[in-house]
Amino acid sequence: MNPIEIRPGIFWVGVNDRTTDLFEGLWPLPHGVSYNSYLVVGKKVALVDSVKGPFGEGLLRNVAQVVPPDRIDYLVVNHMEPDHSGALPLLRRVAPRAEVVATKAALPMLASFYGIRDGVRAVGDGDRLDLGGKVLSFHPIPFVHWPETMATFEETEGVLFPCDAFGGFRALDGALFADEVDFSLYEDEVLRYFSNIVGMQSAAVLRAIEKLNGLPVEVIAPSHGLVWRKDPGRIVELYARWARMEGDPGVAIVYGSMYGETLAMAEAVAHGVREAGVPVRVLDAGRVPTSFLLRDAWRYRGLILGSPTYDTGVFPPVEHLVRLLERKRLKNRSVGLFGSHGWAGGALRKLGEKAAELGWDLVGEVGFAGAPTAEDLARGRELGRAVGERVAEGVRT
Ligand code: FEO
Repeated sequence: MNPIEIRPGIFWVGVNDRTTDLFEGLWPLPHGVSYNSYLVVGKKVALVDSVKGPFGEGLLRNVAQVVPPDRIDYLVVNHMEPDHSGALPLLRRVAPRAEVVATKAALPMLASFYGIRDGVRAVGDGDRLDLGGKVLSFHPIPFVHWPETMATFEETEGVLFPCDAFGGFRALDGALFADEVDFSLYEDEVLRYFSNIVGMQSAAVLRAIEKLNGLPVEVIAPSHGLVWRKDPGRIVELYARWARMEGDPGVAIVYGSMYGETLAMAEAVAHGVREAGVPVRVLDAGRVPTSFLLRDAWRYRGLILGSPTYDTGVFPPVEHLVRLLERKRLKNRSVGLFGSHGWAGGALRKLGEKAAELGWDLVGEVGFAGAPTAEDLARGRELGRAVGERVAEGVRT
């Protein structure tokens, strides 16, 4: 995409990445991702955030359509993760006068990632930088997503550059602004980004929202995904909801199955959830990438896990999800469990222990041996209905 002027003198000059398969080497990118970078042009010129290293030339081509790159006076580094800082060595070569602007906590990272020690200005909370006609102020929001992270605010136009906060997966399909697209096509990927990347830092997200709430923000311009120039409160409220881990009234059923017996139970459980009148998604942990399981576990207040006993424990793909949920500190879930075994159990007990450890509201569990009987399936259906009714009531731990 070519540069887009989002407000007078403020330009999006980022890039789409449609070729990286795994974000952070971990999370699938079936719809790509954008690395948003912004030029703020006053008498002096600042570039706010850059892009992943291999995309640096694309960034420069966009910058050059607005100003000669050697005119950049400041390279504002809101966040040191290399999807936003990777082009810094290239930028330092083409704009040798430019001063790097970052928090004090970023300084050792600038040195360790890129050997950058000189020409750096450390800024603190509320510090301002007058560009002549444009004014930047700096607002640390630690742990959204790393400890050094800050948001930058352009005061004359009310544009907030919060880097990872309020961003999402999915490349920009020709449109930059949220009001230009059917956001329902993007929301799943914004939630997946939230749950995969910043969900673990939900407390920090809520602190950042509270802190940035004091600024007269008119436009939110994150460093991934859509820019919010109309109703920026919509993306803030979505992020706040997800960070509070409220969950929508609905149920994600995540199961693993070797020979179809646990799958048969998953179908019965799903039927029961539906009878309770709430949405349900059934996900095969062996086939659906964990990134998407995590997203739907975050989406719904109800979570039902099903696993055969495998090597005396939980089926590995289900266990992997539970480990990630623990790492991401997901709370406020009403949970059901079902488990099968051939000769001795283990999965159900271990899932139950983990649910208790995580403080989840355990609504019920169903275990069975071999193939589920009609009576087993009826108990599964009842389990699904019970979890569905619990989340419909809004009862949470
Ligand atoms: Fe988009 Fe934490 O970097």
